Amino acid sequence: MNWGAGKNWQAIRCIPCCIIEMSSGTSRRWWDELSVFRECGHPGRVAGRMPALPGQEVFNQTGPLPSRPAGQRPGVRILQITDLHILANAGETLLGVDTAQSFREVYALARQEDPTPALVLLTGDLAQEPCPASYRRLRAWLEESGWTFHCLPGNHDDPELIASTLALGRIHCQPQVVLDHWQVICLNSAVSGSPRGYLADAQLRLLENCLTACPRHHALIALHHHPVPSGSAWMDTMVLANADELLDLLAGFPQVRLVLSGHVHQALDKQRGTIRLLATPSTCFQFKPYSAQFALDDTAPGYRWLELFEDGTVATAIRRVPTMPQGLDVHSAGY
Ligand SMILES: [Fe+2]
Repeated sequence: MNWGAGKNWQAIRCIPCCIIEMSSGTSRRWWDELSVFRECGHPGRVAGRMPALPGQEVFNQTGPLPSRPAGQRPGVRILQITDLHILANAGETLLGVDTAQSFREVYALARQEDPTPALVLLTGDLAQEPCPASYRRLRAWLEESGWTFHCLPGNHDDPELIASTLALGRIHCQPQVVLDHWQVICLNSAVSGSPRGYLADAQLRLLENCLTACPRHHALIALHHHPVPSGSAWMDTMVLANADELLDLLAGFPQVRLVLSGHVHQALDKQRGTIRLLATPSTCFQFKPYSAQFALDDTAPGYRWLELFEDGTVATAIRRVPTMPQGLDVHSAGY
């Protein structure tokens, strides 16, 4: 699979079963415990917290999950898991953290909280140093759940190795997934040998083709690099370099609702016109928000869940494990 060539991608008509599963009540307990939150302008709330303002994200860590508003028909639930930085060998650590152990704690939380997501997006930096051993370790854990995964590369990854050693069975690297009312488009923003992000012409054309082909589907775009500044000067040297090209293209397609990214190892929630841009914490260590230089934050690892509704609205929140990763050296100066 070559993300850059744009010739191997295909639409996957998928997962009507997720609708069946949700409407048949397999996740009823989940929803019964929830309170209200949605992004479309309706005030939301999370039990025990102040009401969220319209468009505000809920950075809750534990406790009840947000729920759909009364009368809202079930949407498609997906998860985003990002920046795993899996190492090649058991027991290896990065900044003091066993990244595999930390990922598995987040993964276990996600499996406990949502056993039947329609799909899971892995948005890059799946390995710390791309090598077959790292991806094979990850594949073994992913296969435990039986979930459907769609992965894209980050600056620490090797797209060809992902395709050959990770993307097997229910783990995919095709860039387009077409659901009943939404399509998900996964882009490769990685630049070989550089931490910076850039979307090659082939990626932009692929994106344009997907959006043109499905004008009635709401669109979620996923990529590794953040397309708008995070506010951390050092991290924003690695912002998507041609973000203007991306945002200009997206502005021509009113069905685009969401852009999901990783890379920044923290939660972000931005808005550009009608498009919401979200980033998600890493499954290992987090970067301190609004820091001029590299600095670690003392927040726990997590993942993002989203519910995509038929009318184009979205419910989303960050979920975090209850404790910091064991061994984290929060005073590290880099990695
Ligand atoms: Fe990362």
